[in-house]
Amino acid sequence: MTLIIAIDGPAASGKGTLARRIASHFGLPWLDTGLLYRAVARDVLVSGGSLDDIAEAAAAARAIAAETLDDPALRGPKAGDAASIVAKIPEVRAALLDYQRAFAGQAGGAVLDGRDIGTVVCPGAHVKVFVTASDEARAQRRFLEHQGRGENISYHDLLTDIRRRDARDRDRSAAPMLAARDAMHLDTTELDANQAFDALLTLINTKLGAN
Ligand code: C5P
Repeated sequence: MTLIIAIDGPAASGKGTLARRIASHFGLPWLDTGLLYRAVARDVLVSGGSLDDIAEAAAAARAIAAETLDDPALRGPKAGDAASIVAKIPEVRAALLDYQRAFAGQAGGAVLDGRDIGTVVCPGAHVKVFVTASDEARAQRRFLEHQGRGENISYHDLLTDIRRRDARDRDRSAAPMLAARDAMHLDTTELDANQAFDALLTLINTKLGAN
């Protein structure tokens, strides 16, 4: 049986953690597609380029190497903000599409999380979920994560960053962040990580049972 699960949602909604746990539950490979955009931005900046230079960003996207995605420099709000600038460029998105579709097309299936998985990358996914949480809950979670690592970032700066990035992702014309029409919705504002996982698993099992 093949099972493709698409999990989309805004920054810091918890979709990455949920996708990882769902992948492990079903024994499927998982791709955090945000890492691809983060890596493109990193590669443009490392080579001294500008994030809104279409040709440079597209060349970086075409040259993306899977083994460089496991890079701690890709974590954190600065890398996410830079990613959302190159993510607006249609040529960058097009260059990353084959990689994502090949990943989704593996025997048995896969779990992918991002912004446009259910709408553009895998419109035929068996299960689509759009994960949300209030802006404040998302900023608070990021704040606690940074604090846990001993990093000093203000809650207010994180909230501003999340709102700016969401607006950029929602308002762009190329594959904007959007729930697919056939996506199930999960609001994790009032849920801790385990409750969110349980709620998502119930949604997925119900959907699979109904098919
Ligand atoms: O999910 P993450 O926060 O790592 O994504 C970083 C940025 O990459 C997002 O803000 C968005 O601009 C872009 N992205 C995207 N499409 C995806 C995944 C991420 O545009 N499928």
